[in-house]
Amino acid sequence: LRLAAVVPAAGIGSRMQSELPKQYLKLHGRTILEHSVAALRQAQPQLPLVIALAEHDRYFSQTSLVGCGGIQTVPGGKERADSVLAALQQLDVASYDWVLVHDAARPLLHVTDLKKLVTQCQQAGCGGILAAPVRDTMKRGGPQIEQTVDRHRLWHALTPQLFPLLPLKQALTAALAEGVTITDEASAMEWAGHPVLLVEGRSDNIKVTRPEDLALAAFYLETQR
Ligand code: C5P
Repeated sequence: LRLAAVVPAAGIGSRMQSELPKQYLKLHGRTILEHSVAALRQAQPQLPLVIALAEHDRYFSQTSLVGCGGIQTVPGGKERADSVLAALQQLDVASYDWVLVHDAARPLLHVTDLKKLVTQCQQAGCGGILAAPVRDTMKRGGPQIEQTVDRHRLWHALTPQLFPLLPLKQALTAALAEGVTITDEASAMEWAGHPVLLVEGRSDNIKVTRPEDLALAAFYLETQR
């Protein structure tokens, strides 16, 4: 399996109410980005990695990832999809067949989930994403409820997401050119007509987004390891 990985880490974390972008907040003495990268490399410590960073990032250079073998960085873009595409452009289709895309803000990815995703996608011969079944009742609207959305067969899309490299590059490029709203890699692949597998993952694989997520992430980190 000729596999590489991309980590979009160019977000500014506006919902975090912090000067520091969320991927650089610390959990147990290490940045969230360092945890996310370590989690992604658990099964394959030398996994080649491209990290997309904000244009004026001042923090990456202070992490232990600098000078780490197999890691390169690229300037990200305006939206997450732009950052992912910029990183994908660094990966040659002659060298890699598959690519994992993992949020810098998901430090709790468990190795069993990572292996499950890779195994199931290999078996099915198509891309796939880690996902968690929706447990709450879902509403659309605001401030008044317009509709209760049936949660049956509804999933939260998590990362990593795993795809064949060339079709993902092509789908993202075309979707961005067409102005399609792309919030994860799967949405570009679905739009381009590719099958995408839902692989049930652990619900503790949270994205650190709001201030209260940090304490939860610290707690999960303690219980996981
Ligand atoms: O904003 P959101 O939580 O969806 O961001 C998910 C991931 O995408 C984060 O790791 C963030 O750093 C990254 N991102 C990016 N480039 C952007 C926006 C977000 O790499 N322009």
